[in-house]
Amino acid sequence: MVNLTDKKNINVRCSNSKEQFKGFSTKSIHGHEFYDPELGLFKVPIYQTVVWEQFDKITGLPRKTARETELKYSREENPTVYALEKVLAKLDEAEDALAFNCGMAAISTVYLSTLESGSTILISKEAYGVTQQLALNLDKYGVKTLFGGPDTDEIISLIDDKISLVIVETITNPLLKVIDVNEVIKVCKENNVRIVVDNTFATPLLYKPVKNGAWLVLYSLTKYLSGHNDVIGGSVAGNKETIKELWDWRKNLGTIMNPFEAYLVIRGLETLEVRFVKQCENALKIAEFLRDHPKVEEVYYPGLKDSPYYSIANKVFERPLYGGVVSFKIKGGKDAAFNFFKKVNVIKSTPSLGGVETLATYPILSASKSMPQSLKEELGITENLVRLSVGLEDVEDLKEDIEQALKE
Ligand SMILES: Cc1ncc(COP(=O)(O)O)c(C=O)c1O
Repeated sequence: MVNLTDKKNINVRCSNSKEQFKGFSTKSIHGHEFYDPELGLFKVPIYQTVVWEQFDKITGLPRKTARETELKYSREENPTVYALEKVLAKLDEAEDALAFNCGMAAISTVYLSTLESGSTILISKEAYGVTQQLALNLDKYGVKTLFGGPDTDEIISLIDDKISLVIVETITNPLLKVIDVNEVIKVCKENNVRIVVDNTFATPLLYKPVKNGAWLVLYSLTKYLSGHNDVIGGSVAGNKETIKELWDWRKNLGTIMNPFEAYLVIRGLETLEVRFVKQCENALKIAEFLRDHPKVEEVYYPGLKDSPYYSIANKVFERPLYGGVVSFKIKGGKDAAFNFFKKVNVIKSTPSLGGVETLATYPILSASKSMPQSLKEELGITENLVRLSVGLEDVEDLKEDIEQALKE
């Protein structure tokens, strides 16, 4: 019979030194450091339990996690979730990380912990529509929202010491502009302003905001990091002190991820590098195909050499890869766009991104739906705009599907 004694340190493998976690995939596969010496178990189990016996039978003291928080109740701390957080922190080269039950739970926890009556939040004009909408909802608590950008200079021009929080996305959605995040971070630091970088589209493979000085990096884990369109999750990473503060807010708000979801994200992260690199390669091929297509009015992809964002991407990103999302405008307006969504077959018409399946999204009815109409018009988020999250299917099959879907 397996004897799961109290003595066992359930989620720390002590024998590994930090030097053993150098490469990205080594971190993503082994970075949880989980090891059960009694069973020789090195895969992270799902600790599907709400409660933990609070007092250790040997020491008589409250049981603690490696984070030095008490292990007693899974709304506060759970070893499967904690194992995921260790990987997330390593991938972004941050001190600590927290996992949430969705990207918006991470964002709302950051808002509520940071903002107060009289605060002003500066958000990129092309940020995820719900991130914008939630900030506007805080108006009733006396929080003011300013929209800036979406380009680097337009954001920077609005940053001063009266701003409490800046939120930018490394690659904007849906028009895939690349922000010179290092420049925005620099100006935030000069003005003593906290900056949160939503790095969902870039992943830590292309850019590591905290390593480059941001206050926090934020992800919708629903996308590339879990990668299979079967998990909803979110995360933040930053320094220990900030994460400790957010830990308290997460506990009180009840926004922690559940252990089964954490297990799936740990599993997804193991293949993040191979998945994301391939998705970026596929996306470039699809962008080139669309650029040369007579039914396509315009293509938006920072990896195309004639994109105005190609040089910024090469300056900011750690690798010559440009993400897995491509947007384009179809000739023929809304009807042509609807025809495309009706006819795609391998490609599925649905919101979201970052999974192994190629998805076609209609931004005007999804990510940008809650944006004010005037802002949509200003940014060029039009009725003939389609966003593709390129998956891992064979590119030739994707091209064939697009070709037949572009026919009237
Ligand atoms: C860039 C970005 N950030 C945050 C979110 C919110 O994440 P979730 O849907 O996991 O709550 C999304 C969702 O699409 C997103 O695209």
